[in-house]
Order: sequence, then C-alpha cells, then structure tokens
Amino acid sequence: MATSLAPDRSPVPGPSTWLPGGAYWAFRDDPLAFFTDTARTYGDIAGFKFGPQKVYLISRPEWIEDVLVKSAGKFGKGIALERAKALLGEGLLTASGQHHLKQRRTIQPLFHRQHVQGFAEAMVHHAARWRDSVTPGAPLDLTREMSRLTLGIVGETLFSSDVQGDADEVQEALTDAVSNFAYAFIPGLNYLSKLPLPMFARMRTARDRLDRVIHRVIAERRTGTPSTSAKATVAREGLPAPRPDLIAMLLAARDPENPNEGGMSDTQIRDEAMTIFLAGHETTANAMAWTWHLLGSAPDVEARLHQELTAVVDGRIPTMDDVPKLEWTRAVVSESMRLFPPAWTMGRRVLQDHAIGDHILEKGALVILSQWVVHRDPRWWPEPESFQPERWTRAAGDRPKYAYFPFGGGSRVCIGEAFAWTEAILLVATIAQRWRFVRGSEPPPTPEPRITLRPKGLRMTALAR
Ligand code: HEM
Repeated sequence: MATSLAPDRSPVPGPSTWLPGGAYWAFRDDPLAFFTDTARTYGDIAGFKFGPQKVYLISRPEWIEDVLVKSAGKFGKGIALERAKALLGEGLLTASGQHHLKQRRTIQPLFHRQHVQGFAEAMVHHAARWRDSVTPGAPLDLTREMSRLTLGIVGETLFSSDVQGDADEVQEALTDAVSNFAYAFIPGLNYLSKLPLPMFARMRTARDRLDRVIHRVIAERRTGTPSTSAKATVAREGLPAPRPDLIAMLLAARDPENPNEGGMSDTQIRDEAMTIFLAGHETTANAMAWTWHLLGSAPDVEARLHQELTAVVDGRIPTMDDVPKLEWTRAVVSESMRLFPPAWTMGRRVLQDHAIGDHILEKGALVILSQWVVHRDPRWWPEPESFQPERWTRAAGDRPKYAYFPFGGGSRVCIGEAFAWTEAILLVATIAQRWRFVRGSEPPPTPEPRITLRPKGLRMTALAR
C-alpha cells in the first residue's frame, strides 16, 4: 500500500555488508577512504550497516542543508556524540531538545562579536609569546605546539586562568579520551564499557584528569582568585588583566526567556566549561597545524601572505581591526579548512521517518555528513586535492552553500565560529610575520581522523623570514 511519505523503501545501495560488521571494519581501517570511496561509488546517498545499525552517508549539499537546517527537528545528535556524554555530560555539544535550546540562548551572548573583540588581545599575546619562544632551525612538532598555544588561549580568554601549566596533562588526557573514537560505533559499547578493560579504564582516568583541571578553574572563579601561577604569569608576561570570563558569565547567566529562574547548577557549569574547553582548542589547533603544513608546500601562496602582512600589519602586533583587511590570510585559512576540515564528519540520528530524494530514512537510522568527502567533491571544487586559496577571492558562482560547512549549520552551528575565525587569522598574522616553517626531508603528515582531524607526524623547522 502506498504511504504519503514514500518514494522508496527498498535498500539504498552501498558497500557490501555480507560479513557481520563488514562495513564497520572497513571504516575502522581507514575512515576517510571508506567514506570517500562509498560516496564516489554509490552517490549522494549510500546505505550500509555498522553491525545491526543502519547508516546513511549523505553527500549532496542541498540534502545536507535539509538535515542540518530545514528538517533539523527530525534529527538528533549521532551516536559518537551521544557517547561523548561520558566525557562532556549535558554540555551544548551533546545536549538535545529544549535543554539545548535553553543553554544555547543563555550562552550565546558570550560569543557575540564584542566579546570576541575583547578576547583578540589575549589571542595575539599568546601568539606573540609562542613566536618569541621558537628556536630557529630546531625541529618542531607543530600539532603539539599549536595545541598548547590554543589551549592557553581558550584557557585565558574563557577562564581568565593560565592553564598552560596543565597543557601536557590535558594533551595526554585528551589523546587518551579521543583515541578510541572509532569504537564509538561498536554495537553494545554501553555494556562493554562497564567491563574492566584497559581501554575503558584509560578513558575514565582521562576524564577524571580533565575534570580536575576544570574544577580547579571553577573553584578559582567562585572565590574570585585566579591561581598564584596564573597571577604570576599575567605579571611576568605582561598579559592583559583578567576580564569577565566564561565561568563568571556562566555563574551569572540566566535564560533570557525566563530571567527570574535560577542559574545553572555546578554540574551544568562543569559540563559547559568542559565542552567549550575541549571544542574550543583542538579544532583550531588542527586548523593552524594544517595551515603551516600547506603554506610550507606552497611558496607562491606564502609569498602573497607575507606581502599582505607587510601591507596591512607592517611588523606590529595585529589587532581585531586588521582582521577584515587580511583577505588573503582568511582565504588561506578557508582553503586549509576545506582540504583538512578539523570537524571531518558529523552524525545525526533519524528521529522520525524522513524522505530524502527518492528514499526514506527510517527512524533510528544514523546519518553521516562528511566535510572531508564534500569539501573534496570535484563537482564543486575543480582540482579538489590542490591547495588554491584564490578560490576564496572569486565569487562562489553556483557552488551550493553546503558544499563547505566546516562549522556545521542550522541551530547547532558552531557557537565558537566567530571566535575561531578571529583566532586563526590573528595567529597566522602574528606568527607568519616572524617565521616560515619548512619540512625539509621529513615525510608529509598523514591525516588522523579521530574526533577531529589531526595531522600526524607534522615535524617542521622554523626559519626566520
Ligand atoms: C576551526 C575551529 C572550529 C571548528 C572547525 C568547529 C566545528 C564545529 C562543528 C562542525 C560543530 C557542529 C557539530 C554538530 O552539529 O554535530 C561545532 C559545534 C560547537 N563548537 Fe565548534 N568548531 C571550532 C571552534 C570552536 C571554538 C573556538 C569553540 C569555543 C570557544 C567551539 C565551541 C563549539 C560548541 C560549544 C559547539 C556546540 C554548539 C551547539 O550544539 O549548540 N568551537 N563546532
């Protein structure tokens, strides 16, 4: 019998799943290749199974827009983020429904332009401090270096607290927390994770270590006293005086639609702080690291960057006012996030049957939208593998909006997008005025797709300009 919904309920073509968990193991082996091959072979919608779980990979920009924006109410967060609740609790990234809406309304003002403007000063101070610490000719692990730098920035701008002393501990804990990401798709993980397996024990220890850092910062804000080490750092480095920060704002925040309601509980503040702490540094760090890698292999692009920096900034420490003028710098960062999107894939769960093209996505299925796949689709990006920032200085033509979505879209679009653009542009502008990074005989880095897309093995040497 025909239904009103129903173009087609027959299986959507996709990679063979005749072996139990077959698609899952191919994904586990090489997620980037698995998604790319699947989309190129089966088209804009491909269906397969991870164990008993039905999965759809959707790669047509207008359908991506449908999932994220137009029909967003029919989709919840995907399995990986549901499982990230063990680490992030009910923070913005993992929360859903009314609770998410309320938290988003309450927290959004922190990320308005005028606040980001205030944070810009701290961004360039940290970048300048890092720039001064670099030794010419010494090999640098730029993935790690950029992670330390952006961790310091998110720590200071959002927590008014110097967390760089904890950078190694946080870095290690994060690595442990995310390194088993591929297992997030294993059926029955919730039961398995209760078993005393070393992998899960490591993840729990990592969460406890991260919790300790965040709780220390919360305690400092409650008593209004930054730690002795933070005060010493501010004095020693001539950093700007602490300003009202995220924790202070979260403590004071009220839902604008219900201003007489009480504020957030301690647990909620911890969850939001942990979410922004993690979401706010690893992604930008990876964008920076990939940008240095790409610049190191494109002398013409780099020369044009240097020309722009000389013309606009001329050796000064850059400011927020420079950001709109740094058009080529922005194009470089845009192109870097096209080729190596820090958020390389996003998941959604289908909450009610929904028609896409000629197919029905059934309730309970998972939908995967992959920036890695779509950002390299030759229909929208001629010579997709090639680093060409000039793409961003031309009009987009008839390229659909969701052919590029490094920050997601719709009501769940990255809350830190303006923060991230400002940070990335100011970091490139501060650091590239002094240094170029070259790879020499080191092999190129490989993309490591965990929660974010890290460059693995990115070793470069700093040369003075
Ligand atoms: C280059 C840097 C960044 C990239 C590529 C990025 C990417 C993303 C993406 C794709 C999402 C949507 C996830 C989904 O819908 O499933 C997201 C959400 C989010 N991001 Fe970012 N992000 C970046 C930087 C930041 C920064 C700097 C912050 C905070 C300081 C931040 C905080 C968040 C939060 C809290 C959410 C959840 C928003 C919500 O669901 O309401 N991100 N980000």
